[in-house]
Amino acid sequence: MVDQPLVVNDVPSRIPPSPALSTSSLLAARDLQRSFRIGGRRIEVLRGISLEIVPGEVAFLVGASGAGKTTLLYTLAGLERPEGGTVEFEGRSLYDLSSREQARVRNDRMGFIFQGYHLLPELTALENVRLPAMMHGSGPTVQELDTRAEALLREMGLGERVHHLPAELSGGEQQRVAIARSLINDPAILFADEPTGNLDSKTGAGVIETLLKLVRERGKTLLVVTHDRGLAERGDRRLEIVDGRLGSAT
Ligand SMILES: Nc1ncnc2c1ncn2[C@@H]1O[C@H](COP(=O)(O)OP(=O)(O)OP(=O)(O)O)[C@@H](O)[C@H]1O
Ligand SMILES: [Mg+2]
Repeated sequence: MVDQPLVVNDVPSRIPPSPALSTSSLLAARDLQRSFRIGGRRIEVLRGISLEIVPGEVAFLVGASGAGKTTLLYTLAGLERPEGGTVEFEGRSLYDLSSREQARVRNDRMGFIFQGYHLLPELTALENVRLPAMMHGSGPTVQELDTRAEALLREMGLGERVHHLPAELSGGEQQRVAIARSLINDPAILFADEPTGNLDSKTGAGVIETLLKLVRERGKTLLVVTHDRGLAERGDRRLEIVDGRLGSAT
């Protein structure tokens, strides 16, 4: 998923000059616009969304099915180019970078957790977790990475599952592996799209508890899309998309 080519639109981008950013923001989106043509109709999904996320913040994004949550998350993470607007991450305008630089930012500075886990089936839990750290030509040795990956898996309660293949793990265990993988490069921000969507509520609650604990302990920034309004109360901020615009509560 993370390696998917960017969706490039046929509509030329309208990039307005971005106002000065507050130096404290990690991620700043300005006036994001995105529409899709479905049948003969054009649907405006993002209608001028602006948003800032500060380091260490835990934000939940809610909204009806089809409201544009995934579209917004992917746009903020550099996975889907908007038709208009800008995304600045760590002071760099994401969509002004080359696709190679964008891929590097995503791999090194961002972590991703998806509803469907996206583990490689032929790799063990340990190998899946260390994979994003193997993209670098230089850096830690495989042994050092294995030590780090195993420590993360242990923190996720998977000390006894390190050498299992995804097919040998339950859904909740697979999602814990995916969370460990998202942290291996010590990213600045984690993006999660319905991370408990495939899990029963009890398993999902356990996975979220572990994720929140790890994120809070490490002072990581987290943006989570969820349908679960109760869960959304657990963050510092709850953002809601309605009619292509963002409202916020709490
Ligand atoms: N690649 C695409 N082509 C056409 N339409 C799309 C595409 N991606 C999203 N859409 C449309 O944009 C709207 C928003 O989709 P999105 O996936 O962002 O919603 P969502 O809030 O994540 O919904 P859900 O809660 O069901 O996951 C929907 O109407 C969807 O059909
Ligand atoms: Mg979605």
